[in-house]
Amino acid sequence: MVSAHLVSRPRRICVVGGSGFVGLHLAARLVRAGERVDVLTRREYAFHELKVLPGVRLLQTAMETEALAERFAGADAVVNLAGILNERRRGDFEAVHVALPQRIVAACRQAGVQRLLHMSALKADMDDPPSRYLQSKGEGERQVLAAEELQATVFRPSVIFGPEDDFFNRFDRLLRLSPGVFPLACPEARFAPVYVGDVAEAMVRALDLADSVGRGFELCGPRAYSLRQIVDYVMQVGGHRRHLLPLGPRASRLMAGFMEHLPGRPFTRDNYRSLQCNSLCKSRFPEIFGITPKAVEAVVPGYLGLLERNHRLSYLRRAARRDEYRLILRAENPRHNRA
Ligand SMILES: NC(=O)c1ccc[n+]([C@@H]2O[C@H](COP(=O)([O-])OP(=O)(O)OC[C@H]3O[C@@H](n4cnc5c(N)ncnc54)[C@H](OP(=O)(O)O)[C@@H]3O)[C@@H](O)[C@H]2O)c1
Repeated sequence: MVSAHLVSRPRRICVVGGSGFVGLHLAARLVRAGERVDVLTRREYAFHELKVLPGVRLLQTAMETEALAERFAGADAVVNLAGILNERRRGDFEAVHVALPQRIVAACRQAGVQRLLHMSALKADMDDPPSRYLQSKGEGERQVLAAEELQATVFRPSVIFGPEDDFFNRFDRLLRLSPGVFPLACPEARFAPVYVGDVAEAMVRALDLADSVGRGFELCGPRAYSLRQIVDYVMQVGGHRRHLLPLGPRASRLMAGFMEHLPGRPFTRDNYRSLQCNSLCKSRFPEIFGITPKAVEAVVPGYLGLLERNHRLSYLRRAARRDEYRLILRAENPRHNRA
């Protein structure tokens, strides 16, 4: 056990950045393990899936030291999941990946919380990372691990997959929208996608593992794929008939330069630089967690395309009794055309 006060349940775990993809799965696992969870968010959510989980509170919080310390008071552990893949403004990476963890560390001290789990990214700890995303993640995790009197554990996952992911689902969406030819930047970049349930479970188990304190863990799934293999797989599972056009380095850079100006910045030059190092772990899933990581093939076919369908469902609910509702029903179910 990490420390005596972590033994009795339910414990209260504060999760910063827990309103997103990983946070949802982590909160569900913490609840299943009998914990109470406070998810601290910058926003006010009218509705959020987290609200249906018993024992989970979604608390709007200013991400400043004082406000965080107030929320952390009496908590048994803090988890930091806050992160961004792209900047809206220059300096955002440093703000979210370095300055925020510094404030979280300071707030833990102020509130007397000793245990901190921190989410970084695979390759963030390499010498001289190629992108500002990885550099800032590296700086953030160094700050956390250097914090004296804190019992910190750092996680460095490869790309994470699972329902609601922004990886397989994104390619599925892009392929659906694309005409016959699909240009693919950095086709030879390699990943070992790791299942979100395994990442969340490792974090839950880490809470009680004294041997995980002061260490960083790389988290990868059981198999490595090139980006081209991943997109081929999405085409196969999603039933998309497209011609893949793998781009060389120069064309990939040009594509990044163009796409970073599109709404939502789907691909940026910094993303391009991150892809210059393979997102592969040095060894298998850390034995300390006692988890056999799930393969892409065992999970992805169960959810690919569902996100779109779910969006359509919410749209349907919102649009109920309006003309669009009937139009969508007709498009999806020809029998309604007779109505
Ligand atoms: N998904 C992956 O494939 C992957 C791979 C490697 C590492 N990671 C890391 O894993 C963590 C969770 O990823 P995810 O996929 O769950 O991301 P996500 O769905 O985008 O959620 C990110 C969370 O970060 C919070 N956040 C964003 N900007 C913030 C800011 N300026 N201040 C405070 N909070 C902020 C958001 O909270 P609010 O908007 O509610 O405040 C949100 O809940 C991140 O640190 C990410 O870098 C993810």
